[in-house]
Amino acid sequence: MARITDRTILIVGASSGIGAEVARQLAPGKNRLVITARRAPELARVAEQVRAAGSHCLPLTADALDPRAAADVVAAAASEFGAVDIALLNAGDGPDMAMDEVSVADVSHIMALNYGVVVNHLVPLTEQMLRQQNGGLIAHTNSLAGLMGLPRQGPYSAAKAAARTLLDAARVELEPRGIRFTTIHPGFVATERISEDGLPKPFEISEERAARHVTRALEREPAHAYFPWPTAALVRTLRTLPTPLSSLILRKLAYR
Ligand SMILES: NC(=O)c1ccc[n+]([C@@H]2O[C@H](COP(=O)([O-])OP(=O)(O)OC[C@H]3O[C@@H](n4cnc5c(N)ncnc54)[C@H](OP(=O)(O)O)[C@@H]3O)[C@@H](O)[C@H]2O)c1
Repeated sequence: MARITDRTILIVGASSGIGAEVARQLAPGKNRLVITARRAPELARVAEQVRAAGSHCLPLTADALDPRAAADVVAAAASEFGAVDIALLNAGDGPDMAMDEVSVADVSHIMALNYGVVVNHLVPLTEQMLRQQNGGLIAHTNSLAGLMGLPRQGPYSAAKAAARTLLDAARVELEPRGIRFTTIHPGFVATERISEDGLPKPFEISEERAARHVTRALEREPAHAYFPWPTAALVRTLRTLPTPLSSLILRKLAYR
């Protein structure tokens, strides 16, 4: 069971996958959860599971791509529970995208979904948390793909890298004023969404295991969390190699 108790926690993107499982793992801690997504029935099911396990839960159907809707979510969470102690910005997606097939619109959409949604929530959350006596934690489900340009995931890698950089700058500015930032970098996770996308997934881990890593990061609040270790070590090693060699290895891994 997660050790986080009696906190108000906003999870953006919690109707399925990692976000839904994090909500379920935080539920026994008698927390107050605000969960968002677009699919109302799936979100309602997660809310029921959270309540059954012992936490309050406010499900809000909202499109994270809409800045107004994101601001309304933050305002609704604060108005219902008085503060937002922890926010996990988890909505995102990284479909298979070859650079000789993508359109400009495809790349812009992936940027909006993996970077824009962070901005849409970061700004109102910062305003809210600066008003709160104890500040708060803003965490983001990034990806190991955000650490280097991965083949077939170029637009996704770029968007996650942008989000990491933005939160790194926000941490330097805002930590002295009580807002902490944690960027979480999972490797491949066996969620339903990516089960049939055709991408190779070395060292893939289960949704439950990924969510345990995420809840641990929410407890310990490191600036960056990386998992699982074999994928993290592989990415770190690739980054130290000369570009021709890392490109060769990445090409082989992506087109196995
Ligand atoms: N699975 C992996 O291998 C993996 C690896 C590294 C990082 N990640 C990251 O982990 C996060 C969660 O992904 P997942 O694999 O758990 O996928 P998932 O099951 O598709 O979960 C994504 C969640 O985000 C929500 N979402 C998507 N677009 C949204 C929008 N416009 N507005 C509001 N909510 C939205 C989805 O709900 P609705 O569709 O109902 O809106 C869903 O609840 C993503 O940021 C992803 O990039 C995943």
